[in-house]
Amino acid sequence: MGDPRLLAVAAPVSGFGAPELENLLIDMRDTMRDLNGAGLAAPQIGVGLRVVIFGFESNPRYPEADSVPFTVLINPVLTPLGEEQDEGWEGCLSVPGMRGLVPRYRNLRYTGEDAAGMPIDRTVSDFHARVVQHEVDHLDGILYPQRIRDLTQFGFNDALFPGEDIPDD
Ligand code: NI
Repeated sequence: MGDPRLLAVAAPVSGFGAPELENLLIDMRDTMRDLNGAGLAAPQIGVGLRVVIFGFESNPRYPEADSVPFTVLINPVLTPLGEEQDEGWEGCLSVPGMRGLVPRYRNLRYTGEDAAGMPIDRTVSDFHARVVQHEVDHLDGILYPQRIRDLTQFGFNDALFPGEDIPDD
């Protein structure tokens, strides 16, 4: 947090099948797995392209979350389904050691392309919808602390959740 690359609007991807895109996806997957992330956006490793990845079977940073299928999502477009929002705790690999209570749409349709340029079109809810909204915010230069409505609900993992031993990113 504080790096200007995290505040920039990322550019659309056109080079499907190019080795640069394949290498970026490998770097992103390695980074996300090393850090136990639920997701990662290209700007978080300094690449200003509209690429996010997310998904896990189980995640020590979000032990109560349902699994989310591993997904590469390129040039995403989000459409909230309804007005309903939930508040939920989020962390971010770019804001290490912290959590905040963030409102997100509960139900969401997302479209975009996979690594081969094939279309993706899904309707999701709850934590899956939250992760996608968090990651796609990164492509528009938005970090989750900017979404927090009540800044008393923002702090360090070990102060907010003593004894829970959340990995410190
Ligand atoms: Ni993040």
